[in-house]
Amino acid sequence: MIELRDLTMDDAPALQRIYSGASLTYIERRALSIEEAVDLLANTLACARAEPRDRWAFGIAADDDLLGMVRLRCRTERHATLSYLLREDAWGRGYATQAVADMLRHAFTATRLTSISARHHPDNIASGRVLLKNKFTYRGTRDGWPLYGIHKPGSSTP
Ligand SMILES: CC(C)(COP(=O)(O)OP(=O)(O)OC[C@H]1O[C@@H](n2cnc3c(N)ncnc32)[C@H](O)[C@@H]1OP(=O)(O)O)[C@@H](O)C(=O)NCCC(=O)NCCS
Repeated sequence: MIELRDLTMDDAPALQRIYSGASLTYIERRALSIEEAVDLLANTLACARAEPRDRWAFGIAADDDLLGMVRLRCRTERHATLSYLLREDAWGRGYATQAVADMLRHAFTATRLTSISARHHPDNIASGRVLLKNKFTYRGTRDGWPLYGIHKPGSSTP
């Protein structure tokens, strides 16, 4: 069982472990140094204080162990893109599916967002499953990457 929690500057070593090894295979990031992990956290915490807010990031934690991160980034006032990343030793337990479900609940109840999209590397079958299991709709490909979207329940679709 996982929970989403706010990140703190103390999470830098855990974040460095998350952004390493096989977890990076399908995302456009390289491994983080500890200094880069500190910078990423500082930037994330600054974004959380911004007004109006246009980014949300939560840690994915189980039993006080930070296993991953799930993020939303606004592209317009009402639309954001979703991304998520789990430490390799936490894969295959349904954690990403649960984290995305929790993030969608947050997005559609605690923010003004009405639609969210996500994409994944063409070979990243697990990521596509995470989105489909959370009721995202497949929308085709962009630059070869499968693209998915979801609307806030009850909101009008464009
Ligand atoms: C993609 C990722 C988030 C999945 O996390 P996870 O917690 O292992 O995923 P879950 O356990 O919630 O579920 C994954 C689903 O994909 C399936 N799956 C997992 N690995 C698979 C594989 N290699 N091939 C096919 N399906 C696979 C699982 O069986 C499950 O589907 P099911 O319940 O229908 O059986 C994780 O592998 C990761 O962090 N990868 C690196 C970063 C990344 O790719 N992020 C996504 C881009 S934004």
